[in-house]
Parts: sequence; C-alpha cells; structure tokens
Amino acid sequence: MHEVPADPEAALVGRAPALAATLRAARLVAATDVAVLIQGESGTGKELLAREIHRCSRRRDKPFVAVNCAALPETLAESLLFGHRRGAFTGAEADAEGLVGAARGGTLFLDEIGELPLSVQPKLLRFLESGEYLRLGDGRPARANVRVLAATHRDLQQEVRAGRFREDLYYRLNVVPLSLPPLRERREDIPRLVEHFNRTLAAAWNLEPLRYDEAALEALRAYDWPGNVRELRNLCERLLVLLQGTDAVTPLNLPEEIRTPAGIRATDSPDEPVRLPEGGLRLEEVEISLLRQALERTGGNRSAAARLLGISRDTLLYRLRKYALR
Ligand SMILES: Nc1ncnc2c1ncn2[C@@H]1O[C@H](COP(=O)(O)OP(=O)(O)OP(=O)(O)O)[C@@H](O)[C@H]1O
Ligand SMILES: [Mg+2]
Repeated sequence: MHEVPADPEAALVGRAPALAATLRAARLVAATDVAVLIQGESGTGKELLAREIHRCSRRRDKPFVAVNCAALPETLAESLLFGHRRGAFTGAEADAEGLVGAARGGTLFLDEIGELPLSVQPKLLRFLESGEYLRLGDGRPARANVRVLAATHRDLQQEVRAGRFREDLYYRLNVVPLSLPPLRERREDIPRLVEHFNRTLAAAWNLEPLRYDEAALEALRAYDWPGNVRELRNLCERLLVLLQGTDAVTPLNLPEEIRTPAGIRATDSPDEPVRLPEGGLRLEEVEISLLRQALERTGGNRSAAARLLGISRDTLLYRLRKYALR
C-alpha cells in the first residue's frame, strides 16, 4: 500500500482572523534566518507551517530535515543530530554526518523541542550561536549553514521553570514566537478545510469527492475538535473512502459525538451534567427536543414521560401546551 505523498503543493488552508496574524508573521520570517518557535496543540498544523516557511524561503531548493526530538533516545541524540567519526563509540563503524549536516544550506525542523535531552541542549545552543558543532569523536568543530525552526505543544516557559529546559536555549529559539490556534477558535475555516481535504484526498486516492449537506457542515462547525485539523482531516478521509457513491453526507453519517443534537454532550462532572457548546445553543430547542424524545420513548404515555424528565405530569402538560406539542 502506498502512502499519500507529502503533497508538495500542500497548502496551509485558512482565513480565520485567529490564524491570519500567524500566517502574516510566518511570511515575514520566511525571508530571514531568524529562529522561530511554533507553538500549538497537537494537530494544529505546526509541521505544515514549518514546511511552508521553508517553501517560501530562499532555501526552498535545499533540504528540509524534520526531527522529532521526542523520538531521539538520550544516548544517541547527540550523534544523530551532530554526527560522529568512525570509532567514536562501539558500533560507530563509519563516519556519520548527522541531521545538522544533512540539512546543510536548508532548514532543520526540531519538532517536540521540549523533549530534547538536557545533555544535548547546550550543544544545540552553541550551534545556534556560532554555526559550529562537534561531531562525536572529532576534535575539530564542523560548520553548517542551517536555518532552525522548532515546535512544541508544551508550554516551554513552564518547562524552563520546572528545570527541564535551559532558559538560554529557550530565549535563543523563541526570537519569533508563532502560535497556531486550536481549530475550535477558528471554526469559520471548517467548511473550507472540509472542501480542501475532500478534494485533495479524493485526487490522491483516485476517488470521487463527496458532497456534504448543510446540516452536516453545521454539525462539523459546532464540534470542538480535540484533535484539531488532524482529526478533521482523518474524518474526511474515512468518510471519503466509506461513503463512495452516497448522494450526500448528512449528519447521520457523522460519528455520534459530532452529530449529537444542538451539540450537547454529557460530561463526567456531577455539577455540570451537560456542557454548553462553544457556540451556545437555544434552550427552548433543547427543551422541545427532550420533551419529544420522552414522549416517543414512552409511546406517548404522559405520566411515564414526566417521570423520565423528573417533572410532574401537570408541569409536563403545561410545557407541551406552551410549545404547542401533543
Ligand atoms: N491549515 C491547514 N490546512 C491544511 N491542512 C492542514 C492545516 N493544518 C493542519 N493540516 C493537516 O493536518 C495534519 C496535522 O498537521 P501537522 O502534522 O502539521 O500538525 P502538528 O501541529 O505538527 O501536530 P503534532 O503536534 O501532533 O505533531 C496534517 O495532515 C496537515 O497537513
Ligand atoms: Mg507535528
């Protein structure tokens, strides 16, 4: 099975004001080599933004090397980043260039920078300040012209206070902070993103794009997206594959947690049994919906329906009259 290629034209989609300032700043820093720290919840597009900065820079024809610092084993982190000479340690059978060397002339993207082992942090700082680094087992410093972009989903300042991240490195990386807002703070972009993923993924998988009806788009807008854009992308992909040949995507095709009427969801807290959706709701609609459901479930038995709702039969009758329900 082949993977969807990291689309060379993968564009960052979005026009929401909450995103606009970040995109504007990203375009400005792309023309320079200043250090950039990209912050945002998981799935908000940090790596995509880093790639976009590289693509808009004069380094675009040179390598873009992405490293996930959380995946660097402490004992190997230094040699993976900076390389080593043959014989530097047991098993080092040949010279190795390291990721910094591999990114020469281009961009090194340090993802999850908060997880970089403390022992390696001073070496990265030295490289950022002087462009020089030492390969393990090599007495002579090497040089590389590399633009460094870093990203984290953690609060790095908090990590500094907790002693897990060097303060000097934090300031060196955070010359320009770029923050990607969570998707629930830029809902107006959701229909545009759905359109984008529906079209580009259909082309990548050789499938027919789907049509989403208004109610489905509305439900997608109302949902909170804890997994942000990645969650939305993956849902679009799943629907695309499973609903080929369907007339239109309706709320019924959406996962339970997304299509719940009025966006109300149960919570685990006894004080707050349901959560008020971000975009608010119409209380009367909720009441009408609950009254209808109670009557439906009890086959129209008003006493039983009143019991289900924890109110007296008289109160139920009063409310049914108020809303002209039967
Ligand atoms: N604004 C956007 N427009 C189009 N695609 C986007 C956008 N934001 C994110 N994506 C897509 O969503 C997915 C997740 O984005 P990305 O990997 O950049 O997130 P991340 O912030 O690096 O997440 P994590 O912290 O979990 O690594 C990718 O497939 C990416 O292409
Ligand atoms: Mg990422």
